[in-house]
Amino acid sequence: MAAVNSEAGGSDPRALPAASSGREPHTGAYHRYAGIYDRLWSRAPYHRFVDLCVEDLPAGARPVRRVLVAACGTASAALEFARRRYRVTGFDLSAAMLAVASGKCRASGLRVGLIRADLRAVPFADGSADLIVVLNTSINYLLEPTEVVEALSHLARVAGPGGTVVVEPLSSRYLHAGVEANRHVDADGLRFDAAYTLHGDLLAERLHWLAGGEEATETYWQRFYGDDDLARMFSRAGLTVAARRSMYPAIPAAPARGRVLWVATA
Ligand SMILES: C[S@@+](CC[C@H](N)C(=O)[O-])C[C@H]1O[C@@H](n2cnc3c(N)ncnc32)[C@H](O)[C@@H]1O
Repeated sequence: MAAVNSEAGGSDPRALPAASSGREPHTGAYHRYAGIYDRLWSRAPYHRFVDLCVEDLPAGARPVRRVLVAACGTASAALEFARRRYRVTGFDLSAAMLAVASGKCRASGLRVGLIRADLRAVPFADGSADLIVVLNTSINYLLEPTEVVEALSHLARVAGPGGTVVVEPLSSRYLHAGVEANRHVDADGLRFDAAYTLHGDLLAERLHWLAGGEEATETYWQRFYGDDDLARMFSRAGLTVAARRSMYPAIPAAPARGRVLWVATA
């Protein structure tokens, strides 16, 4: 079943001036959607996603003590690492996502360092994290291959020799089996619709919701990179891919369907 609609001739965000539509097509940073994202995703089995990141580290990998959660969003994964007593820092480009993350961390009583930073300019010292994770297709908000290589190179540098980098890119199986063409939620005072359309290698995610009497619309763009392209990008960034770990059926829940973790060493 094709879960996304193919639409020839749709607008390509790479061709738009960043400020022209208010959509920030080049950053992918989440805005008003932050609270809604957390309501939609916080029930996903992040504890199992984290299990899959830490089990079977590549041969020769350093033991994990310090974890960096890149594009951490609302800190669901970061909190799972903190619960397991890792030293955790998360960063994200979206101030709104970080505000939600910060509230959750405070409420949990767990310690997670949070900073605002861009995947394309990761501001951490060489070798300062034993494990870096980039989950839920965050890397695909980088719309140019050069940006992906730049980001992966930063992660390789921050992990340092023997460090592990786990990336969950948008996979073709997820694109065709996991993303629902039009996702609808109508529960607990939230009415939410997501429509996904494919424009060549670009995926548009058009979101519309009504919550607490407020109505909003946001659109995000991601670029799909095929496995061969990704393998080349990891290699150019100085990362050796040790495994591609399927998240489903290891996690028999719909949010894991078709998702794959790329486990690499620096
Ligand atoms: C689908 S959400 C995933 C969030 C989190 N990784 C998770 O698993 O819930 C994508 C996240 O990527 C972040 N993001 C997009 N572009 C980014 C960039 N260039 N640098 C850092 N974060 C970015 C967004 O702000 C958003 O929080």
